[in-house]
Amino acid sequence: MRKNIVAGNWKMNLDYEQGISLFSEMVNMIQDEVHGNQQIIICSPFIHLPALVKLSASADQVAIGAQNINQNQKGAFTGEISAEQVKSTGAQYVILGHSERRAYFGETDELLAQKVDAALGHDLRPIFCIGETKEERESGDYFEVIKSQLSNGLFHLDAKAFQEIVLAYEPVWAIGTGLTASPEQAQEVHAFIRKTLAEQYGQDVADNTSILYGGSANPGNAQSLFSQPDIDGGLIGGASLKSRDFQEIINVFNAQ
Ligand code: 13P
Repeated sequence: MRKNIVAGNWKMNLDYEQGISLFSEMVNMIQDEVHGNQQIIICSPFIHLPALVKLSASADQVAIGAQNINQNQKGAFTGEISAEQVKSTGAQYVILGHSERRAYFGETDELLAQKVDAALGHDLRPIFCIGETKEERESGDYFEVIKSQLSNGLFHLDAKAFQEIVLAYEPVWAIGTGLTASPEQAQEVHAFIRKTLAEQYGQDVADNTSILYGGSANPGNAQSLFSQPDIDGGLIGGASLKSRDFQEIINVFNAQ
């Protein structure tokens, strides 16, 4: 059965002490609140990873992730961080394909396919983000966009490898804008993603894949989004930086 996942993406926020203090505040509460089939993941800047892994050692349902890796194994890539280095901190996940990286760092589907392989090669589970821009939504082409991001970034994987992937649908127009996709809009795309996975890998793989929604999710809209049948949790940006909001989002999930 697929897991319900609430993941926080801290992006490029919080200095070292602020990150430790926010996570310390969250971790005990989170561990008390989460239910059996639920996973909480905090994706922090690289600087926090080893400390967060230590702080979460006794919290079984809390895992730590990075927000990027380089596609190469090692070597002369000044300033970059490899999958193996992230894995060596004890982190278990990595966000790949976030629209901010696609837009500001020119990450293409082809590059992302290489990063996916690098992550899986070191036992890091990708949280792979897909989503259309405002123009693509308005032109009505968004299904095509989603399908090509899936197929170019991920469909080189065989079914066994694909089962390590967590997907996040993040409509670009909803990220950090306060404009959330309506539950119906999000459900429509999530159902399309699951159908596309079923065509590629079969219904079992599709049914076992967690598909998260991301884009201005907050305590006020989480209930209506998470109650949709194909929405298996959230990838939370701004609201993951406030322990009360993040806790409320987790609680909404539990109340269902
Ligand atoms: P916001 O929740 O701040 O809109 O960010 C969403 C996001 O990009 C998570 O990866």
